[in-house]
Amino acid sequence: MIKLLAISGSLRCASINTALLGAISEAVIPYDVQVILYRGLGDLPFFNPDIEDREPSSVLEFRSALSASDGIIISSPEYAHGITGVLKNALDWVVGSGEFVGKPVAILNAAPRSSYAFKALNEVLHTIDAKIIAGASVEIPVLGRHLDSREMLEDLEISSLIGQVISVMVQEVNDIH
Ligand SMILES: Cc1cc2nc3c(=O)[nH]c(=O)nc-3n(C[C@H](O)[C@H](O)[C@H](O)COP(=O)(O)O)c2cc1C
Repeated sequence: MIKLLAISGSLRCASINTALLGAISEAVIPYDVQVILYRGLGDLPFFNPDIEDREPSSVLEFRSALSASDGIIISSPEYAHGITGVLKNALDWVVGSGEFVGKPVAILNAAPRSSYAFKALNEVLHTIDAKIIAGASVEIPVLGRHLDSREMLEDLEISSLIGQVISVMVQEVNDIH
C-alpha cells in the first residue's frame, strides 16, 4: 500500500486546507493508497539549533511520519505573502535531518488569489532537496466556496483535480519503487 502524508499549513479548526486534504484522504479509499493527515504541526516547539541533538518526542514523531511515507502532500494558506509560521517551523526541523531529500511532494494551493506562499513553499522544499512533483502541484479553487470535504468531492472540478493529484503521486511513487 502506498502511504502519503498530508500536511496542512493551517491550525484553524475550519481550515479549508485541512478540509481539502481530508477530501483527498476520502478520495483514495477505493485504491491501494492511504493518506495520513499529520496533525502535530502545532505541537512542535520553535526550532532551535541548540536543541537539535535532544529533540522532543513531537519532533521525532514528525520525522518518523515523514520517513514512513512514500510521498507528501502539503496544502498551506498564505499569511502575509509567505507560508505560515507553523509550517516553516516544521520544515526548519528537518533541514538537517533530511527526511525530505528525494521525497516526492505535491504542493497544493487552495486559494488561487494567493501566489506568494505557493512559490515560497516551492523554494523551501527545493532547498531541502524534496522532489517537487509538478503534475501533482495544482491550484484547487476552494477558497470562498464554503465546502466541506464531502462537498469538495461532489464538485466536478475539485474532484477531478484531486484525482489528478492522487494519480500523479501514485505514478511517481510506483516509478521510484
Ligand atoms: C494572518 C493572516 C494573513 C493572511 N495573509 C494573506 C495573504 O497575504 N494573501 C492572501 O491571499 N491571503 C491571506 N490570508 C488569507 C488566508 O490565506 C485564507 O483565509 C486562507 O483560506 C486560510 O486558510 P485556512 O482556511 O486553511 O486556514 C491571510 C490570513 C491570515 C489569518
